[in-house]
Amino acid sequence: MAGHTGTMNLTLHVWRQNGSKTAGRFVKYDAKDIPKAASFLEMLDIVNEELIEAGDDPIAFDHDCREGICGMCGIVINGVPHGPRPKTTTCQLHMFELAKDGVDEIYLEPWRAQGFPVLKDLMVDRSSFDRIVAAGGYITIRTGSAPDGNEIPIPKPVADRAMNAAECIGCGACVAACPNASASLFTAAKLGHLALLPQGHAERTQRTQKMVSQMDAEGFGSCTNHGECEKACPKSISIDWIAQMNRDFVTAMVTSRQKVSERQKGS
Ligand code: FES
Repeated sequence: MAGHTGTMNLTLHVWRQNGSKTAGRFVKYDAKDIPKAASFLEMLDIVNEELIEAGDDPIAFDHDCREGICGMCGIVINGVPHGPRPKTTTCQLHMFELAKDGVDEIYLEPWRAQGFPVLKDLMVDRSSFDRIVAAGGYITIRTGSAPDGNEIPIPKPVADRAMNAAECIGCGACVAACPNASASLFTAAKLGHLALLPQGHAERTQRTQKMVSQMDAEGFGSCTNHGECEKACPKSISIDWIAQMNRDFVTAMVTSRQKVSERQKGS
């Protein structure tokens, strides 16, 4: 535990921006005597306390649970969404991990994507993700009250796979990591867990069509298989889900064309 004790001095270059309509810039701050045991967000809390004491504007950043669960936090740290530690959200990154790598200068940036306009500094508006889910990320059949666990048998490998997709916390690191700012991994994960389970299977194709259309309407780019999303994902969501989404989307397109041509024949 020796590496977890003591303090460290840092030079921070923080992206400061007053909303998406104004230009932003990096501002340099000295962060002195930061405890190595502090989390990355606690380090920012310390810097903010000093800024507030000096009468300056504190750095705006998103957070909520600080336990790696809610998906609210998200900062590009030295060019990497959520920082250098794999499978780790920004809130779960600790300063001793950066000290271990000899890091003493850090660039902090917001997620950069057309679909995530900057609200202030390191905070972005991720309501585009909510709209993608609202477009179809649910099931409309009546499910009644919670059934007995064994009433609908689901093979363990299928349940495990569905759980992998359901782990997505919607943080947006996949978008921030993608050179195309694609939201494909997020959308595919939200589709994937519903598609695999019996209750969600019935609306699989229509759901895919609606959510993919909404993803495109929000201004996210296309997936061209860079694979950066999978690496940046703090929950290790597999890029394979994108392949499944693409297959389902093709099926949805063919089905809707068939319906149109059947209607035209009938009229
Ligand atoms: S603050 Fe909830 S996941 Fe980081």
